[in-house]
Amino acid sequence: MHIIPSGDILCARIEGIDLQQALTPADIKTILIALGRHGVLCFPRQTLDVDAFAAFGQCFGGLEINVANMFHEPNHPEVMILSNIKKDGKQIGLGDAGQGWHTDMSYSELIALTTILHAQKVPLQNGVPLGNTEFRDMHTAYDDLPADVKAAIEGRTATHDFDKFWEMMRARPGNTRPPLTAAQRAKKPPVSHPIAYTHPVTGKKVLYCTIGYVTHIDGMPAKESAELLDFLWRHQDQEKYLYAHRWTEGDVLMWDDIGTTHNAVADYGDNPRYMRRVQVLASLDYPAMVA
Ligand code: SIN
Repeated sequence: MHIIPSGDILCARIEGIDLQQALTPADIKTILIALGRHGVLCFPRQTLDVDAFAAFGQCFGGLEINVANMFHEPNHPEVMILSNIKKDGKQIGLGDAGQGWHTDMSYSELIALTTILHAQKVPLQNGVPLGNTEFRDMHTAYDDLPADVKAAIEGRTATHDFDKFWEMMRARPGNTRPPLTAAQRAKKPPVSHPIAYTHPVTGKKVLYCTIGYVTHIDGMPAKESAELLDFLWRHQDQEKYLYAHRWTEGDVLMWDDIGTTHNAVADYGDNPRYMRRVQVLASLDYPAMVA
């Protein structure tokens, strides 16, 4: 395996590994350490099938079955299809996934360590890829916080709610997402997590508080909570933390859901895009795995 940093604030390319083949414990350790260090990892030119893609994800933790679970690969409810493609007039995948800054599964009691996408079809315009995925580096965003803000969030938790992002998407013109059912809501009730979150791989604190899912800071008067959140969201939104991934078909892109936030850029209209996705729960003992 060769790990080649992008030179940007996030991302390294990993060459010399075929993800169709089973990983060794040493491979898994190397990839985890690289994920903590670079936040986003791109494995280019991968041709793995759905079974191997799911098996790759499982090396890093249990795989989530999405609460809305509308579109997935046959026999693989844990492998979601993100796509704007229609067959016989019907959507074959979730067409608007991740279009807003967030991090996956912060709304869950057991949060995600990583999300992994495999690019099957990348929209192009005059040979230039559209539909970038943008990331921001929350290790550096935390480090850069003023001392008084670090003190204000220390030991504090915020509430994350799946329905916040869902409703934000539904409010967009032309959106076809149905409201969540009571049963779906009950499966993912709002949860609290530390705002200054200790990353299980790097052991460092990150800013874990996205505009996509966080509704308020627990135990703080509403006005103070809203003002502090407004500061934290504007702070993390700075260009200096940004990395935009330009996709190439065959890319397997793995990102750190604790140390980064992300946003899917919806600039491709009906130009076809097709991604397979697994969301990997932070269910393993990562400090032991990287020791
Ligand atoms: C996501 O947020 O999981 C989707 C990202 C993308 O499709 O670019």
